[in-house]
Amino acid sequence: MQSHQIKSFEEYQNACQRSVSDPEGFWSDIASTFTWRKKWNTTLEWNFEEPNVKWFKGGKLNITENCLDRHLKTRGNKLALIWEPNDPKERFVRYTYRELYEKVCQFANVLKKNGVQKGDRVCIYMPMIPELAFAVLACARIGAVHSVIFAGFSAVSMSDRINDAGAKMVLTSDGLNRGAKQIPVKRVVDEALESCPSVEKVIVVERLGWAVNMVEGRDVWFHDEVKDVAKDCPAEEMDAEDMLFILYTSGSTGKPKGVVHTCGGYMVYAQYSFMNVFQYQESDVFWCTADIGWVTGHTYLLYGPLLSGATTLMFEGVPTYPDNGRFWQVCDKFGVNIFYTAPTAIRSLMGGDIDDVLSYSLDSLKVLGSVGEPINEEAWHWYHTHVGKERCPVVDTWWQTETGGIMISSLANVTPTKPAHAAFPLPGIQPILVDAEGNEITDNEVEGYLCVKFPWPGMIRTTYGDHERCRLSYFSTYKGLYFTGDGAKRDENGWYRIIGRVDDVINVSGHRFGTAEIEEAINHNEHVVESAVVGFPHDVKGQGIYAFVICKDKPEREDYLRAEIIETVVEKIGKIAKPDKIQIVSGLPKTRSGKIMRRILRKVAEGDTSNLGDTSTLLDPDVVDEIKAGAL
Ligand code: PRX
Repeated sequence: MQSHQIKSFEEYQNACQRSVSDPEGFWSDIASTFTWRKKWNTTLEWNFEEPNVKWFKGGKLNITENCLDRHLKTRGNKLALIWEPNDPKERFVRYTYRELYEKVCQFANVLKKNGVQKGDRVCIYMPMIPELAFAVLACARIGAVHSVIFAGFSAVSMSDRINDAGAKMVLTSDGLNRGAKQIPVKRVVDEALESCPSVEKVIVVERLGWAVNMVEGRDVWFHDEVKDVAKDCPAEEMDAEDMLFILYTSGSTGKPKGVVHTCGGYMVYAQYSFMNVFQYQESDVFWCTADIGWVTGHTYLLYGPLLSGATTLMFEGVPTYPDNGRFWQVCDKFGVNIFYTAPTAIRSLMGGDIDDVLSYSLDSLKVLGSVGEPINEEAWHWYHTHVGKERCPVVDTWWQTETGGIMISSLANVTPTKPAHAAFPLPGIQPILVDAEGNEITDNEVEGYLCVKFPWPGMIRTTYGDHERCRLSYFSTYKGLYFTGDGAKRDENGWYRIIGRVDDVINVSGHRFGTAEIEEAINHNEHVVESAVVGFPHDVKGQGIYAFVICKDKPEREDYLRAEIIETVVEKIGKIAKPDKIQIVSGLPKTRSGKIMRRILRKVAEGDTSNLGDTSTLLDPDVVDEIKAGAL
């Protein structure tokens, strides 16, 4: 199974070459290492115009047979999942592959008993407890499409996503622990479901032991349902191109879109990228700190490691609870070998006492990873020096919800690393840089828009319920190319450095928000006439949210109004999208055609008003002076 793990730079170069000269042979060889009920007829069918991308057409499989069943003979007693609770005093739990198999089958039987069938969409809104992992895999086992919603999103966000997917069931818990706080999750679900007619059943897992409202005929407790179900559940046979999951993500326009991934291609890409980027070895303990509510949790906490027969660690809590040493304490406790986190977490810990990291040995660590946003050099060096003790390569992994898995990254100890550079594409990935007209820039020492010119198995297939949106968002900007929405540089040696989004998407602590989405939320506040949101550099979050807001009347107390606006955003989207700064303005810099000149607002938000460029085309140039004077 590990035969496609690249071991040297030469092998990497050879793999890259073959993946271009014979992509079908290349991916077909990798796919052959999995368990298929029936082999595919066609390896790849594609065009980026519609787009229509099909990998391993005609192949039949179930991803959970590859995550679980096929390991039982050789790895039945190997640890599959280690769960570390929020409170370090609470006992951790470990599951072998055999135990995980049984837990998933039981959960799958509970789903079936409650009416879920192949193709149904199931929404999962749960804390980071083992049942979340079981639930996701249980859906995949019976061919239901999971749509995990990060449990920090608000009721409104949840109901939007449930309605878009037409979900039949919601899986949730009574509440959740996050550091010192406890959050009433079920109450949020109840509120969301007031406007979700498609949901027939809610299954509630007990985490806090709270008394919660249970709606007769709709809500059931998981612990009641699981009592008498079997520990075996046959895996549903799926087509390679059947939907595996939907994951909602923000774009530059409208509401979040449901990115669709399919069974066969996603499986192959999740495992291949996991084994190669992290260079997982059979006895390693792998820890990805991301929540399963995001794509990183899907691919590198669950599917990638389990497909590889790895031991994966799942953590319920936050890096700062009970203190700033928690990550490192957990690494020492379980002898974590590969640690994968986000720059924002590193930056939040860098500000603390250095003894919080130096008091742990961290001897077991071999490889460090970074994901979600550009890692600045200062954070890279801190991570490399104090966590990795200058002995562990840091793989800076660039990818997206839409790509399914890591696209550009060093392969640990195989290809070189360079601070703040994602470096090289994985074999099979063909990134290019283009100029504004879409012409490929072939030189080095250049900057451009990052596109991909050839399909890869883990790529997005559609946006749920609206294929045209998928085409418009990713395949229409540059003809014949997948456009990432990111800008990137390629240095003199061909190393990629991702700069960040070039569209109206802000990346806050590694999470994406469309500026339009936040503006829409702000505009719901009764005092607000109009708003414009831009990102600004933030020491910990990478980007912060800066909102310029026009109000109906001049508020008596601006601080009250700001608090109210924040409340509105929390209600519409969730705490994670709270604006950091709100400037009340009397107008926005608009062109005569009514377009907001965000370039000016970005400059003001960055605190750089020295050169705002040409403002003569503005409808009301004076407004710029007022905005400059009132900048926060
Ligand atoms: O801008 C890039 C940034 O995160 C975006 C994708 O966000 P999301 O779909 O939420 O997935 C995050 C986790 C895969 C990208 O368009 N991004 C992600 N990783 C990196 C990055 N920017 C720079 N360097 C990275 N390593």
